Amino acid sequence: MSYADHLRAALAEPDWVTLQRLAEIATRLGMSLYLVGGPVRDCLLHRAVTDLDLTTEGDALILARTAAHELGGTWKKFNRFGTAKLILPGRARFAPIDLATTRTETYARPGALPDVVRGTITTDLIRRDFTINALAIRLDGAQPGALIDRHRGEHDLRAGALRVLHARSFQDDPTRLFRGVRFEQRFNFAFTADTLQLIAPALPVINQISGDRIRHELELIWGEAQPWQALARLDELGILQSIEADLHVDDWIAVHFQAQPTRDDRFACWAWLTCRLSETSLTRFSQRVNLARAEAIDLEQVRALRAAADVLGRLNSRSSIYRALAEYHDRSLRVALTVIDQPAARAALELSLDQLRDVRPTLNGMRLQELGVSRGPMIGRILAEVQAAVLDGIIATPQQEEEYARQIMAREGREA
Ligand code: CTP
Repeated sequence: MSYADHLRAALAEPDWVTLQRLAEIATRLGMSLYLVGGPVRDCLLHRAVTDLDLTTEGDALILARTAAHELGGTWKKFNRFGTAKLILPGRARFAPIDLATTRTETYARPGALPDVVRGTITTDLIRRDFTINALAIRLDGAQPGALIDRHRGEHDLRAGALRVLHARSFQDDPTRLFRGVRFEQRFNFAFTADTLQLIAPALPVINQISGDRIRHELELIWGEAQPWQALARLDELGILQSIEADLHVDDWIAVHFQAQPTRDDRFACWAWLTCRLSETSLTRFSQRVNLARAEAIDLEQVRALRAAADVLGRLNSRSSIYRALAEYHDRSLRVALTVIDQPAARAALELSLDQLRDVRPTLNGMRLQELGVSRGPMIGRILAEVQAAVLDGIIATPQQEEEYARQIMAREGREA
């Protein structure tokens, strides 16, 4: 089977047709065109190819503009590196096609984003992370279907080997450590001995990459089929501890990731990783990966709920459960349910979520003022007591609420 046949088998028919048409346009414009990186790797692994990453030694923006015009699509310039996103009819969910000009990258310092200049397919492949990703299939007229494999990527794909292209690869870009671990798990591959040796010396450089980049890499791991295995490997290689020294992956994490039907809930993944940290370590971690404030708050809530499970399990009235959990967000309570084992604490969380959160007395502050309570903290105190009595079933009707409020007012009057 030729590489073109492999590609045809790996692509949905409309994508195959689209690539043919793009290749015709590139040929007419006198530009080379290659499918490059992940899709070539996946094609040679006989996996379905859905992402279309294309590169040309010509001007990608001119090619994108011409293709959009001729094929009835749209395009936009994506970044300062001369990359375009092309949206064409017939693609599933209108997924954009990435179209880039081949480039050469240099790194001003370890962990920095690369400086980019225009290059050839050869320089474009050599800047990449692993040999299995440094592959291209030519699409345009000159040699359609030819595999460009300057680094024995096909050989490594057959061998299940993850190999960097040069010794500074991880230092240049430590996110490749995370990518490598993902590919190891996803394809059941292994780092070669030489590549493995480069990992420990690159760990200190993780400190120099931004929180956003680390968070993004972890989120990509949440999207893998078996995230807990990638996490265990990050732990084993010391990568996880380079983010937060107190993070550790054990069977508890594996069991929780596997047991939960909610694994596509990204917030839950963060919680399973972090809910056993101390408050200090969790705060440090959330800051390090630059989590959104709302997520950081809710992660701390999950941690606190889990730590307080014994106390929660001993609460014995509906109003005390309501009060203890009133400040916690629904999402925190729902995810806390997946990390708390004590049945009594779980029952309290469920009761709160299912029944207590929405209980509100009919009585309100306005009515209390009509009854003679002056504006101020007293109104809130009376309403809270009335609500507690409603929750505990002591009173039920609006009349009873008002009567109850009058009794509190009389009591407060006596005490004042
Ligand atoms: N790449 C790289 N170093 C990085 C990120 C990306 O060399 N830190 C290169 C790789 O050649 C990769 C290509 O850019 O194949 C495209 O990156 P991306 O789309 O993130 O990777 P895929 O290999 O397609 O990974 P996935 O299958 O997870 O989407």
